[in-house]
Amino acid sequence: MDTSTTPAGAEIGTPRDTWGSKFAFVLAAAGSAIGLGNIWGFPTVAGQNGGAAFLVVYLIAVAFIGAPVMLAELIIGRRTQRNPVGAFKALAPGSAWVVVGGLGVLTGVVILSFYTVIAGWTLAYVIKAITGAFTAGVDTEAMFTGVAGAALPAIGWHLVFMIITIAVVLGGVRDGIERWTKILMPALFVILLLLVARAVTLPGAGTGLEFYFKPDFSKITTTVVLAAIGQAFFSLSLGMGAMITYGSYISRKDDLVSSAAWVTGFDTMIAIMAGLIIFPTLFSAGLEPGTGGPGMVFVVLTSLLSTIPPAPWGGIVFGTLFFLLLAIAALTSSVSLMEVASAWLIDERKMPRKKAALIIGGVAFVLGIPSALANGAVGWLSSVPGIGMDFLSFLFMLFGQYSLVIGALLISVFIAWIWGTHNADAEVRSNDGNFPLGGLWTFLIRYVCPVAIMAILGSLLWPYIAR
Ligand code: PHE
Repeated sequence: MDTSTTPAGAEIGTPRDTWGSKFAFVLAAAGSAIGLGNIWGFPTVAGQNGGAAFLVVYLIAVAFIGAPVMLAELIIGRRTQRNPVGAFKALAPGSAWVVVGGLGVLTGVVILSFYTVIAGWTLAYVIKAITGAFTAGVDTEAMFTGVAGAALPAIGWHLVFMIITIAVVLGGVRDGIERWTKILMPALFVILLLLVARAVTLPGAGTGLEFYFKPDFSKITTTVVLAAIGQAFFSLSLGMGAMITYGSYISRKDDLVSSAAWVTGFDTMIAIMAGLIIFPTLFSAGLEPGTGGPGMVFVVLTSLLSTIPPAPWGGIVFGTLFFLLLAIAALTSSVSLMEVASAWLIDERKMPRKKAALIIGGVAFVLGIPSALANGAVGWLSSVPGIGMDFLSFLFMLFGQYSLVIGALLISVFIAWIWGTHNADAEVRSNDGNFPLGGLWTFLIRYVCPVAIMAILGSLLWPYIAR
């Protein structure tokens, strides 16, 4: 057996792949975090929840809840070198905590199922851009309906994206996941900067900036707070064990605290930039934030890209670049979603990587079909009776928000009160003996995270309980 890849000091777990370096890990984890959640999810949710007021709550949620949970997941991952199910089995043998890992695996598969639907749209838009569809005066709403509102293209692109995801996961951690991310991150950042510059100088951009930066605190309700916390977890890939799984590939030599800080920082910066692109453009086009559902961001972005001079080259060059980068950003995230369930099958069920990835990809593809049909192709899925939203948004709410919030709550309770912060502390210090801000982290993970999450869930559920 080849043990050369075993990180030094890994007492628990079997020999497995590790990241090439701390830098490689930060890039891969940032690759998981940065994706549709930043560019599509953040502006969508912020638009529905009051703009600037949401932004304020979001930043607080990231700093005081998201970042500590990120570190908690990395600690569990590096300590156990396992997938989420195996990790809880290793830390609390014979207990019911393994259910948290199982919930994570399930949540990952469901998120993957609709994530690749949206990611499929980005691929369709790459083709649109290359073929010169982004020119002044183009009807961007009709363009969206043409892509997402017809059964064949919607399911077809969903399938294509799933196949690409499977192909990357088949390659394994080092070759598959690491390689992509190194090229992507800087490129995405540069193109976003260009689009920000373009958006904020549009006529009428000021109203959008006001919506985004001038908070009306009366708009903060428990729903807004929950949406912000949920969005923070979704965007940071937390609450379902993706960071446990990625953390399991970190070497003992590397520093967990700064890794967590970098990933959180990068991810938040990209989300803020996405808002800086979407809101000025939206208001400048005379549209209302909070309407338009999952397609809003696509409609707004394409109208921005269509105005870039000189026609038609501006739209072709910037449109292709942007959607290609967005597709790759989505790919590094969908890969991490698939990796959680695959790692579970590989570690716990001793399945070959190839078979595991194919099974998970197949299941998620079939599960994603109703989501693919939920943006116009099938009427009742596009506005589910009794629920008042489309099926994709409904799954996003249940699994992309609620399930992650509950998962993160259980993870923080586990690490703080069951496994114990002294054990976590020892794991953080196992490389160089230091734990910067260790006292603050202990306080946040013990009290702030569980209490805040329980309070917000409780206040939402209370009307139903008290009835
Ligand atoms: N964070 C990813 C994004 O923002 C989505 C994701 C969620 C990935 C949960 C893994 C786990 O696009």
